[in-house]
Amino acid sequence: MNLNIALLPGDGVGPEVLAQAVKCLQAVEETFNHNFIYREALVGAIAIDKKGSPLPDKTLQLCKDADAVLFGAIGDPKYDIDPNAKVRPEQGLLKLRKELGLFTNIRPVKVFPTLIENSPLKKEIISGTDFTIYRELTGGIYFGEKKLNEKGTVASDLCEYSEKEISRIAHLAFKAAKNRRNKLTLVDKANVLESSRLWRKVVTKIGESYPEVNLEYLFVDNAAMQIILNPSQFDVILTENMFGDIISDEGSVIGGSIGLLASASVGDDNAMFEPIHGSYSQAKGKDIANPIASILSAAMLLEHFGLFEEAMAVREAVDKSLEKGIMTPDLDAKSQYGTNQVGDFIADNIVDSDDDFNINDE
Ligand code: IPM
Ligand code: MN
Repeated sequence: MNLNIALLPGDGVGPEVLAQAVKCLQAVEETFNHNFIYREALVGAIAIDKKGSPLPDKTLQLCKDADAVLFGAIGDPKYDIDPNAKVRPEQGLLKLRKELGLFTNIRPVKVFPTLIENSPLKKEIISGTDFTIYRELTGGIYFGEKKLNEKGTVASDLCEYSEKEISRIAHLAFKAAKNRRNKLTLVDKANVLESSRLWRKVVTKIGESYPEVNLEYLFVDNAAMQIILNPSQFDVILTENMFGDIISDEGSVIGGSIGLLASASVGDDNAMFEPIHGSYSQAKGKDIANPIASILSAAMLLEHFGLFEEAMAVREAVDKSLEKGIMTPDLDAKSQYGTNQVGDFIADNIVDSDDDFNINDE
């Protein structure tokens, strides 16, 4: 298969982890005879520094022209200190999501059996955790009208959703549940928010077309509790933009490190793949960031294009690195392995299992 992949390394540890994902994609190309073309562009704080904009036009065009975007990370602490900063790196990511129409963000949360002791939560609680968050990504409070009065003393952010915005992601979430364990949990705050009540109404109606899927509702505060009390009860969680942002970070605690969670953002015409972790600027250039979230994002990219065997080969190589203890310090404080070494190990272990079988057969 030929694929045009836009690479957006971004800020902080973004470039380091993205480089490992690219290594793995190159290993996939070689092992499975594909041809991927990579084109890199600026986004985030580095783009502000070099081009004066967190999402230069050239970057946006490159992403629109590509089959898929592989994203590193965004954000720089120097912009967090000044609450009045006119441009912020995060605006680049938000604009990119909006412009590419990436309305669904898919975030799988799973426990790696080899890492079960790594979680701050008890083994009995987290074992068997395997759920996927469907987070709405281009609407809600992130994109509603923002206001600040002249004195700078009163501010507001509007959380607005239309039926259309809800139904398009709801269909994807129901379909995902159908292919999994037939359970969908809508997370909202319908006891307080009008927008949440619209979510309930629309999702309930759509649910009638998916009778095999068991639809449940949870208020977001209760969901926050349930996710760490009893995570294995969940299959697919559907929620709006900001609730999804918050509960997916919470979900990352289950597996022991936020450095493990990958995500896919999809729309009608484009797709982007990125770790859920941020730029982790303190670790920049130190070769300690966990590349697995980025590598698993590349695996999700492969799956998006139907390259399931290839994605499985990447996942198996990741499992192998964890089994052998070849992991970064977030997973093992005594680790001797850096970002690059873990990336190399995983890339080197990407094999076509059919070939393996043949060799063993002979
Ligand atoms: C995420 C991030 C972003 C978000 C930030 C960087 C704007 O936290 O992808 O979860 O809030 O969506
Ligand atoms: Mn987030």
